[in-house]
Amino acid sequence: MILATDVIRHKRDGLELSTEEIRAFAQAAASQGWEDYQLSALLMAIFLRGFSKRETANLTAAMTEFGERYSWEEIDGPKIDKHSTGGVGDKTSLILAPLAAACGVIVPMMSGRGLGHTGGTLDKLESIPGFRVDLSRDELKRCLQTIGFGMIGQTQMIAPADRTLYRLRDVTSTVESIPLITASILSKKLAEGIDGLVMDVKCGCGAFMKNPTDAFALAESIISVGTANGLKTEALVTRMAAPLGKTIGNALEVKECLATLRGGGPKDLEELSVLLAARMVLLGGLASDEREAAQKVRKALESGQGWERFLKCVELQGGDPKSIENVDRLPRAQHIKILRAEKSGYISELHAEKLGRAAMLLGAGRQKASAAINPAVGLVLHVHIGNEVQPHDEILEIHYDDENLLTNALPLIQEAITIREEPVEIPPLILSKS
Ligand code: URA
Repeated sequence: MILATDVIRHKRDGLELSTEEIRAFAQAAASQGWEDYQLSALLMAIFLRGFSKRETANLTAAMTEFGERYSWEEIDGPKIDKHSTGGVGDKTSLILAPLAAACGVIVPMMSGRGLGHTGGTLDKLESIPGFRVDLSRDELKRCLQTIGFGMIGQTQMIAPADRTLYRLRDVTSTVESIPLITASILSKKLAEGIDGLVMDVKCGCGAFMKNPTDAFALAESIISVGTANGLKTEALVTRMAAPLGKTIGNALEVKECLATLRGGGPKDLEELSVLLAARMVLLGGLASDEREAAQKVRKALESGQGWERFLKCVELQGGDPKSIENVDRLPRAQHIKILRAEKSGYISELHAEKLGRAAMLLGAGRQKASAAINPAVGLVLHVHIGNEVQPHDEILEIHYDDENLLTNALPLIQEAITIREEPVEIPPLILSKS
């Protein structure tokens, strides 16, 4: 019999935990076998003392095992997903899933909701009237068989240990631990029943990992632990200092994704979505090199196949396809305020975290997990880093419903924008590819 007190003491004293001890911890988290304070004490000991690669791989495997695990053997094709560690305006999933599927990849994508300044794929999708993310396994299977992808939320039975541990980490300041983040993400991804995973590790003020050292360490941890658990895993580290694309806020981001799938999206968003989709195609063995994979994805984009698949996905998941064909039918805020440049110069900063927080204050995001969101509100940027502006040029639009919320958000938006006299070098979007 493995006792919680022994396991906590071992980690407290800096020892490496045995596979059995780690399994007992994961099982207890999945089934309320230990008290919350015991789970929390062990989380803090792991946070402070660290976990070896072996311990992290064991925890990931056990968190997957004590829950439901999908398998899609009956469906032909490589099962590959992409996961991002989260950012501001990070909406690539909605673009790359239909593109990768159009190239032959099967994408059973399980996503999360936004929390704090970061957005979540599920909230974006739910801004489409009627769209359901709570599909049963059979409903998801039908999506995979018909269009090659489906987009759902984590069910109660998928990695239940992660639900408990994430809730406790959130309230015990133990979220920012590389082993715990690795196990949390990968336990859910393994349960999806995929063969391969492309990770987009975000780096910068709008991300969990604020600096390249931490972002590279997380990327390395995810690759080694994913691989140790039989998942073909690769990771890109990408910049999240400024928002990705030009919109922040759920319906606004859906509109931008639809524009991108029709060939008229912002360059950075299109570039990253195509790159990640191409990585999925390559990982799935559907191209012989990165160039060929990118060509296939571009063809899916330019021929409109990606857009058509997204439209079909909306139909299959209960959404109103008319709101995709005519985006004016998506939720729209009651008011738009334009913010203008006060001086001439070059845009040197669009602080992602501050803009994400401002969008959250307008109602686009939530400060705690149970809060409701307003799908219509958010920000639309008219500039990018490095753009030259003159006084009175439009910098961004604030889409809002409530004057009081606008009053709260406005100072943060003003603080987020910096204009410098000297020209600004545009930093690279991709910091590393594995
Ligand atoms: N996303 C997750 O799913 N888990 C974490 O711990 C952090 C980000």
